[in-house]
Amino acid sequence: MTVYQATASAPVNIACIKYWGKRDTKLILPTNSSLSVTLDQDHLRSTTTSRADPSFQQDRLWLNGTEDEIKEGGRLATCIREMKALRKQLEDKDSSLPKISDYHVHISSRNNFPTAAGLASSASGFAALVASLAALYQLPTSRSDLSRIARQGSGSACRSLFGGFVAWQKGERADGSDSLAVEVAPREHWPDIHALICVVNDEKKGTSSTSGMQRTVETSPLLQHRIKHVVPERMAAISKAILARDFDTFARITMQDSNQFHAVALDTEPPIFYMNDVSRAIIALIVEYNRVAVEKGGKLKAAYTYDAGPNAVIYAPKENIKEIVELIVKYFPQAENFKDPFGLFGAAGVQGK
Ligand code: PMV
Repeated sequence: MTVYQATASAPVNIACIKYWGKRDTKLILPTNSSLSVTLDQDHLRSTTTSRADPSFQQDRLWLNGTEDEIKEGGRLATCIREMKALRKQLEDKDSSLPKISDYHVHISSRNNFPTAAGLASSASGFAALVASLAALYQLPTSRSDLSRIARQGSGSACRSLFGGFVAWQKGERADGSDSLAVEVAPREHWPDIHALICVVNDEKKGTSSTSGMQRTVETSPLLQHRIKHVVPERMAAISKAILARDFDTFARITMQDSNQFHAVALDTEPPIFYMNDVSRAIIALIVEYNRVAVEKGGKLKAAYTYDAGPNAVIYAPKENIKEIVELIVKYFPQAENFKDPFGLFGAAGVQGK
């Protein structure tokens, strides 16, 4: 008996230009393009196994061992349906292929880090789901094409189908066919950039990105300014900086964009606060660290960025990571065990070789 099963894994990505706002909530089409770095270490990954079998009565999914409902018309159901449709197309073209698109699937997914704590678990989760179904169905589909499907699970997931530096082009079409992820540069282009993750709080966040975005789109005038007058130039400038391996520009834009995303959250009615006092203290530390470097005639040495939660991600060239870890441990004595990846202030995901 043939077993139809495949496993795939996908890492978290952390945006430098933030996606915040949908112009179409069903297709998950964003109001602006975004750009991220996919982390390449093993700390922050989702691993997903999909299996198709004629004995299965329905599609089912387990997340970290607990069954999750696959709601009809929901995001999971959409991704599974789209992947089955691609398989069906193949089977229609080649009658020698087993008709496994007719079988129900069982899917098991695990994150090796806290789920929904502002650490982009939905990004790696939906990317791994789509990648495992693509492997199960042996689809010849390109990553950008798969990214269109992952996008309908969670917007930022489309970027996790690529490693390295990745842009999600917002696209123009109403059907979403041009809203997909593309590689800006592979990881090997700039291996010197590392990411340090400071887990300030690993609890589930208060306002989900879905409801937060909706409220921001409905109420924030600053978001409209950001979409029209800020993001397009930033996307071009940061892509150029990545291609030129220009850390100073990359860092400046990354911090500006994190600040503006949190300003937009604050500009929402009622306001949303994702950062806390500890997050702000880390910003102050990085600002001071950079100020001293620039005063001595040097360039920026680190960049902070925050997603929809209080945890800091610090991008820096490898040579500065040790110094930054020492600084954090010095100013935040709770961070006594910096090697514990997910303790209070644990640092995880120091990238690279
Ligand atoms: O894809 P979602 O719905 O989890 O939204 C992610 C939004 C941010 O993480 C705040 C920004 C981004 O571009 O990843």
